[in-house]
Amino acid sequence: MTDDLAGRGLVVRRVDDALRTETDPWLEAVSRGFLGGERNDVQRDAFFAHTAYRRKIGVFDETAPQPDVPVATFASWAAELTLPGGTVAACAISSVTVAPTHRRRGILRSVMTRELRTAVERGLPVAILTVSESTIYGRFGFAPAALAAQWTIDARRARWVGPEAPGRIDFVTRAQGRDIAAALHERVRTQTPGEIDMPGGHWDRFFGTRADVEKAEELRVVQYRSATGDVDGVALYKVTENEHDFAASTVDVLLLVAATDEAYAGLWRFLLTMDLIATVRAGELSVDEPLWWMIADQRAATVTVRDHHYTRILDVPAALSARTYDVADTVVLDVADPLGIASGVFLLTTDADGTAAVELVDEPPVGVPTVTLGVAALSALLLGGVSPVTLARAGRLVADDAPALARLFASTVPPRLSFWY
Ligand SMILES: CC(C)(COP(=O)(O)OP(=O)(O)OC[C@H]1O[C@@H](n2cnc3c(N)ncnc32)[C@H](O)[C@@H]1OP(=O)(O)O)[C@@H](O)C(=O)NCCC(=O)NCCS
Repeated sequence: MTDDLAGRGLVVRRVDDALRTETDPWLEAVSRGFLGGERNDVQRDAFFAHTAYRRKIGVFDETAPQPDVPVATFASWAAELTLPGGTVAACAISSVTVAPTHRRRGILRSVMTRELRTAVERGLPVAILTVSESTIYGRFGFAPAALAAQWTIDARRARWVGPEAPGRIDFVTRAQGRDIAAALHERVRTQTPGEIDMPGGHWDRFFGTRADVEKAEELRVVQYRSATGDVDGVALYKVTENEHDFAASTVDVLLLVAATDEAYAGLWRFLLTMDLIATVRAGELSVDEPLWWMIADQRAATVTVRDHHYTRILDVPAALSARTYDVADTVVLDVADPLGIASGVFLLTTDADGTAAVELVDEPPVGVPTVTLGVAALSALLLGGVSPVTLARAGRLVADDAPALARLFASTVPPRLSFWY
């Protein structure tokens, strides 16, 4: 595919992370692609310092007036994705742009195809991304496997009926909050399908502890400390004052990490009962939040659910055997892949302790229930966030026994990704 691009005078190559003459124009192209302005030196310095771990691809048009500024960008790195009962190495993808001057000529298709194949060669069984538009990546085999709930809560109406946490809430500095959040995220991320290890530089970006973060001074951080002295939770938020009615101001919860139910309750109660705050907003929550059961008036919360974390299986045996299953069963998966990477007929056998064996078979055994599906539908099932019964009803798969498949792929924890990357 990239030969196609070469035939059109376009050069696809990896950007050298050690050279500012390479990373500065690449960053410029990313910013332009995401409708941002020109980058300043502070932003370029921070980008250079924080993103060397990313494999950055640029597509260069040598006939353009600015041949050093790529007309397309693509970044990826090896992340660890949590699955039900396990984790899997995943190719995390970000900074996908094609310049408006070069759009819809197949550049994304060419680079994506090439980079997914590279991920396979690097031994990464899954690719993952968060998206600007829902319509782009399905054709490449991605599916929105973890949804995100955005909450807007009428704080005065909600009324706390959840547990009273015995610990205490205290303000901490942004730098302290960053360190607490990083440690807590490592404790909780492997419990929640859909979460990944935080990409390098992101903690500093969230907490405004790197030079290129604007309006960092608006951020506030509180920690929750249990009665026995353990710091088990942290919340990062921003207050927007309502100048027309000081008592109707807004809190935006930017991040809340709680390693215990007690810390979760303590932090949410704090955020919902602050003086002068009428509205609390929070995003990237799970679709099944305990918070729903902690407020007396559930209509005080308006919840909007969106697609958020996209997964794309590249290696069916490696991806499916990296998670566990709650029932022992055997099923034949007849998988179609539009890019030909993960197609095949696979026999998935799970045993009583939850582990799976997955093998590519020429002839599926007679009598074993079969499911026929595209790689995107299988990728949607990987995190346990959607029932195969739902996908069957939606025409996204055909199963001999969809309810049995639903029991097999179910997850007791709804998938979630608590941030964007
Ligand atoms: C999205 C973007 C990268 C697409 O690049 P592109 O080179 O124009 O895409 P291609 O020409 O390779 O198109 C590949 C396929 O995707 C489709 N497609 C591309 N962009 C799409 C979009 N925004 N919505 C729906 N479909 C899209 C094309 O129609 C084409 O379909 P087909 O091959 O099945 O016929 C580019 O428009 C862009 O940079 N947008 C702004 C930044 C952005 O949103 N990036 C994505 C971040 S997650």
